[in-house]
Amino acid sequence: MDLYEYQAKDLFAAHGVPVLPGDVATNPEDAKAIAAKFGQAVVVKAQVKTGGRGKAGGVKLASTAEETEEKAKAILGLDIKGHIVHRVLVTPASDIAEEYYFSFLLDRANRTFLAMASVEGGMDIEEVAATKPEALAKIAIDAIQGVDAAKAEEIADAANFPAEVKDQVVDVIVKLWETFVAEDATLVEVNPLVRDPQDKIVALDGKVTLDENADFRHPAHAELVDKAAENPLEAKAKEKGLNYVKLDGEVGIIGNGAGLVMSTLDVVAYAGEQYGVKPANFLDIGGGASAEVMANGLDVILGDEAVRSVFVNVFGGITACDAVANGIVKALEILGDSATKPLVVRLDGNNVEEGRAILAEANHPLVTVVDTMDNAAAKAAELAAAGV
Ligand SMILES: Nc1ncnc2c1ncn2[C@@H]1O[C@H](COP(=O)(O)OP(=O)(O)OP(=O)(O)O)[C@@H](O)[C@H]1O
Ligand SMILES: [Mg+2]
Repeated sequence: MDLYEYQAKDLFAAHGVPVLPGDVATNPEDAKAIAAKFGQAVVVKAQVKTGGRGKAGGVKLASTAEETEEKAKAILGLDIKGHIVHRVLVTPASDIAEEYYFSFLLDRANRTFLAMASVEGGMDIEEVAATKPEALAKIAIDAIQGVDAAKAEEIADAANFPAEVKDQVVDVIVKLWETFVAEDATLVEVNPLVRDPQDKIVALDGKVTLDENADFRHPAHAELVDKAAENPLEAKAKEKGLNYVKLDGEVGIIGNGAGLVMSTLDVVAYAGEQYGVKPANFLDIGGGASAEVMANGLDVILGDEAVRSVFVNVFGGITACDAVANGIVKALEILGDSATKPLVVRLDGNNVEEGRAILAEANHPLVTVVDTMDNAAAKAAELAAAGV
């Protein structure tokens, strides 16, 4: 889960990383009141979960409370790369002598953690990385050893942080690592990490991605979820413990096992080209395809207005095809009239004959059984196109 800047900076502050104070406003009047409280020039910053806010006009300086109101009015409602701004952070304007870059992230390709640091921070670290890779230090972090002061110093030296601020930077690096570990983050990024004219170091921006697999260890993280911004279908699926990702096509997809579902997306995308339709979602119902799980899955998929047909692709392993077939039949009973879209079912594997016999016996008007995955994908795509 990605956090908003203000949430990221709250976590930083909790772990002792220096940040500026700030408050969030959802309307221009509140922004004005916050600026009046600070009684000094402020920066109004769009809170959206995407980068490049500054360039998109989402970060503006305001010298008075009145001006803060105007700037907030201009920023609220902005569309930044498809993210609408519903809140702004109002924070004191800082004098900036230098802007640095720092991050810890999960380096999947090298199966390790990585620290990245540069004294050329600010808005365009991607460009620095592309055009001046030598200016971006990259240091692998051993998960067991972590980052102590000595390791932080190695990172600060590799990035050539100036001597006058090195001690502070080392301290910030250690605390950011503590944040990364203690919060179970997969990304902690500060751009810019700022040096002010008095040589004080402050994290002026913050990006944090939390590992949702570790949610059970962090009851407090539940409060960081932005319910209003969540896709309602994804929220419903999560509530029911389903592994669902909404996509923007017309063919709903249910399968057992992430690998099979991924392949199903591929064959549907391929078959759909001819009809101008695409997969509408990813949904893995996992091992035990009980009637309840099947009904929950179908319920979520049929709740998506864009869906025109559903492809149920199951390979019977430990859960045999007859159990899955019974699951489908019972699920359709449970859903009753709310099941309205055609279902293409492909079963294979353990007890496939019994499974197909159960579906044939039930003879449900919405269900078409197709023997192979490719043919089933083609049928689902054809039905989706016919239903548009
Ligand atoms: N409190 C502040 N005082 C003075 N200048 C600021 C302040 N906050 C941000 N800035 C300036 O605005 C620039 C952009 O701010 P910030 O890094 O928060 O947004 P961004 O880089 O555009 O967004 P993102 O990091 O999402 O790409 C900073 O590099 C800094 O120069
Ligand atoms: Mg930034």
